[in-house]
Amino acid sequence: MADAATQRARNADFWARTAPGWVNQADRHDEIGRPLGAVAFDWLRPQPGERVLDVGCGCGGTTAELARAVAPLGSAIGLDLAAAMVATARERFTTPDGAEPRFVAGDIETLDAVPGAPFDAVYSRMTLMLLADPVAGLTTVRRSMRAGARLAATVFRDGRVNPWLSAAMLGAAAYLGPLPPLPIGDEPGPFAFADAARVTRLLTAAGYTDIGLHPYDVTLDAPDDPEAVTEWLIEISPASAAYRDAEPTAQGHARRGAARLLERFRTAGVGYQLPTGLWLITARSDRTSTQ
Ligand SMILES: C[S@@+](CC[C@H](N)C(=O)[O-])C[C@H]1O[C@@H](n2cnc3c(N)ncnc32)[C@H](O)[C@@H]1O
Repeated sequence: MADAATQRARNADFWARTAPGWVNQADRHDEIGRPLGAVAFDWLRPQPGERVLDVGCGCGGTTAELARAVAPLGSAIGLDLAAAMVATARERFTTPDGAEPRFVAGDIETLDAVPGAPFDAVYSRMTLMLLADPVAGLTTVRRSMRAGARLAATVFRDGRVNPWLSAAMLGAAAYLGPLPPLPIGDEPGPFAFADAARVTRLLTAAGYTDIGLHPYDVTLDAPDDPEAVTEWLIEISPASAAYRDAEPTAQGHARRGAARLLERFRTAGVGYQLPTGLWLITARSDRTSTQ
């Protein structure tokens, strides 16, 4: 297994190369991906006037929702490693009068605290399992929370309950150039937080209390448009950069390859139903701690 510094450098490179795909798919992902974070939003119940943080905010859609919930006096800040996604989030959601939400580019693992701290509530959708050193990242988050503040995050459980993820990649891979290495052991990746006991250990090591992991099964409903749906899934996957670098003919083959493996999730004339197994992770910063 790679050490944390090597893995962190790999992550920065990976997200810089993957960001253009997420930027292309920002609107579609906001719409279809809503169930990926809804349970965390509901648990967090952000209140008007609160200061909230969105860790790994991508192109900003969830930060904008948080900002609406805490308006008019609250504030929402989205933090992301990928500068291109942060720039896109600002373009999509920053209003001319400079009102919230605000977006910050940075690595949650290496910051002392997130600008705008202390936060009353922290939200994160499908990011924590991707950290090179989750304890370092979760510790920055906790240091950025006021005492007793709440955290709600979603991550994937294991591959068996998220079969569409590998189907899209496997179907496309044969037609594309080299893909990033598959994660080994606890290395960052979609299923690195599958083991509830490990996640509890990581949160405990980072100083959280009231830790809970709750399984949720949700369905992502996508339209019956195989070209668009496969392009969305490939562009937000680890195959994103290889897809962008491929010739149009190879891209077409990749989409059709992914469509073949995704066919079992499709009802013609209705759309795709993608079964998705999540953990809702909930926790609080220590009520008495200030660091
Ligand atoms: C799977 S995407 C999820 C994006 C968004 N939360 C959503 O659900 O649409 C993971 C995001 O985490 C960001 N990320 C990964 N490692 C990070 C780190 N160390 N610090 C901050 N952001 C990070 C990536 O740049 C990417 O935007």
